[in-house]
Amino acid sequence: MSSTAVIGLQWGDEGKGKVIDSLAAEASIVARYAGGNNAGHTVIVGEEKYVLHLIPGGILHEGTINLVGRGVVVSLAALVEEMEGLKDRGVPVEERLRIDSRAHVIFPYHCQLDSMTEVWRGAGRIGTTGRGIGPAYADRVARTGIRIADVLDPDIFRKRLEASLAEKDAILSKVYGAEPEDHGNLFEESRELAERLRPLVVDGGGLLASAYGAGERILLEGAQGTMLDLDAGTFPYVTSSWTGTWGIAGGTGLSPRNLDRAYGVSKAYCTRVGEGPFPTEMEGEEEERLRAQGNEYGATTGRPRRCGWFDAVQARYACRLNGLDGVVLTNLDVLTGFSRLRVANAYRLGEERTLNFPAETGLRADLNPEYVELPGWEEDISDIRNFDDLPPSARDYVAFLEEEMGVPIVQISVGPDRSEIMSGRNGEVRLWS
Ligand code: GDP
Ligand code: IMO
Ligand code: MG
Repeated sequence: MSSTAVIGLQWGDEGKGKVIDSLAAEASIVARYAGGNNAGHTVIVGEEKYVLHLIPGGILHEGTINLVGRGVVVSLAALVEEMEGLKDRGVPVEERLRIDSRAHVIFPYHCQLDSMTEVWRGAGRIGTTGRGIGPAYADRVARTGIRIADVLDPDIFRKRLEASLAEKDAILSKVYGAEPEDHGNLFEESRELAERLRPLVVDGGGLLASAYGAGERILLEGAQGTMLDLDAGTFPYVTSSWTGTWGIAGGTGLSPRNLDRAYGVSKAYCTRVGEGPFPTEMEGEEEERLRAQGNEYGATTGRPRRCGWFDAVQARYACRLNGLDGVVLTNLDVLTGFSRLRVANAYRLGEERTLNFPAETGLRADLNPEYVELPGWEEDISDIRNFDDLPPSARDYVAFLEEEMGVPIVQISVGPDRSEIMSGRNGEVRLWS
């Protein structure tokens, strides 16, 4: 019996897709538990590049079931489009994909509300992906949301959709002053999409419980990152779901007592897309250089990612909250050529020094990270597969991060391909229990 979770430790885009793909080779089920098509998880296999948005990262593996868990918000149109894209590339998607009937649906009016609320926020905008994520989760909490199970029942769906459209039209026109949206054939189109998905719709919690009971391996796929978590993150500049290990049971239906292992994924530096506090953000040429070396552009929206130094205050906070067995450090290769590397190990808040990530970072202009400087390295490290073969300053950098986080770095990734990875300084660790 075993389950293993892979969680983003920063502001998303840590390289979870790559780590999940490699672990999925040994998993019976890979389950996503949060977010929606705001996620973009890149998997590179040789010359082939796949960017997965809603479909879990085990889809490229024969014999692996991929579950879109009940905590995921699902645009039916986006899901079917993603399935078609994979099918066109020869992936037998239907064999491998399942969708929880309790998952809530994102409709076009959620996307419209997403962009309208962003306009309304003005300078305080979050910089959302515009995929309707926040409004769909808001409907879930407000109990006006519509689940896949509801769309599959025409009578229930008609009633719930009519009620929802009446409410949304009133909000859009009376609150936001928007033109009433023409909903076209939303009922028929959604019904058609849902009927196509029907054979794949399951009780996800039941599926996971039987697999766990039968001793199969379950991989729990995080989306976004700990700092984008609704409660743990840099509120309000966050997404609208629980992205950390605490979201897994709620978002899949697997009992929290069946969560065995959890690994965090962190870049060897930081990035963030969208607005919000980013204590170690770089500026000017340094940032441009890192962005170019790391090709730091969003996998979902193509926006340039903001780049910054590794933030040990933030990393310690994320490790503690998630309760991790280890960290996979990615993109170490990207730091090649920087003569000195900076790591924030404390924050100054006015006169005060703190080692903890404060709740009000978004509001405090007097927050300044305290940096430690470490020497960089010049060598290309992307072909290295043994920790001991890394340049001494790269080894020292990894050891420093590990000590700061207080969690072992079990793997180090030095390139986007599946093969570009090595064990940490303590040698090989099996990530499954
Ligand atoms: P995710 O959302 O956490 O799955 O990450 P993304 O796919 O959005 O972004 C990670 C990017 O980094 C992708 O373009 C990956 O192909 C790439 N990547 C992953 N690991 C490494 C690595 O070790 N080195 C380099 N240079 N790129 C990596
Ligand atoms: P993956 O899974 C990076 C960010 C958005 C925005 C904020 C809220 O690929 O790591 P939303 O559309 O969710 O309401 O936007 O969250 N964001 C991500 N940033 N990676 C992601 O996913 C993200 N998902 C959401 O840019 O700042
Ligand atoms: Mg991503």
